[in-house]
Amino acid sequence: MKSIISVKNLTKIYERGSEKIHAVDGVNLEINQGDIVSVIGESGSGKTTLVNLIGCLDNPTSGELYLDGQQIFAQGVELSESKLTRIRSEFFGYVFQKFFLIPTLTVKENILLPSIFQSKVKTSEKELDEIMTLLGILKRKNHLPSELSGGEMQRVAIARALVGKPKILIADEPTGNLDSKRSQEIKDLLIKLNKEFGITIIMVTHSPELAKIGNRMIEIKDGKIS
Ligand SMILES: Nc1ncnc2c1ncn2[C@@H]1O[C@H](COP(=O)(O)OP(=O)(O)OP(=O)(O)O)[C@@H](O)[C@H]1O
Ligand SMILES: [Mg+2]
Repeated sequence: MKSIISVKNLTKIYERGSEKIHAVDGVNLEINQGDIVSVIGESGSGKTTLVNLIGCLDNPTSGELYLDGQQIFAQGVELSESKLTRIRSEFFGYVFQKFFLIPTLTVKENILLPSIFQSKVKTSEKELDEIMTLLGILKRKNHLPSELSGGEMQRVAIARALVGKPKILIADEPTGNLDSKRSQEIKDLLIKLNKEFGITIIMVTHSPELAKIGNRMIEIKDGKIS
């Protein structure tokens, strides 16, 4: 299998006053294309920090990150914000525990939001309808987020993450705000995205049920893989 993410000695140190917090502490990791990686561990162990570094949402203090063999972070290499923006849109879709939908925009407008910021992403009405059908939210196209259930909101957030046709989906507690039935739906959907489109998935979860879908499970303890 082809490696899509390569992480070498990745470290993130936060400074709070005189205190140094090693949120991510020398992590080494190889992720192959098509993997589903479950990231588990106690609260505060560094899961979000790690996936944000991998997703280029945050800069490491030190260490290296390669995406598809392309060097992103390394000693002495600093990418401009515009380059990072391009890499984010080329590789990643993001789903967060809080759905981050814009309340005044319709479902359709929320899903198309990335296309407004990324000139690369052009989504036709047909493609939009296909994504919405896949996620079972086509009927909600012109509704406002306030008119949706939690599970529907999360599926809108996933649709938004998919419009750029990402190679990698980063999901930080995607079912954290959902009941067990809605969680099950999101779980089935993630499996489907992986099987049908070969999307690599990195998923942080506290749910053993969801973590089970990973072909790899990584436990983080004090910023390290244990
Ligand atoms: N911006 C920040 N400034 C200072 N410390 C931070 C910052 N973000 C995170 N931390 C600290 O880094 C450590 C790891 O945090 P992180 O959010 O990665 O944990 P987590 O495993 O995702 O936890 P949870 O399961 O609660 O979401 C924690 O000790 C946290 O307090
Ligand atoms: Mg977290």
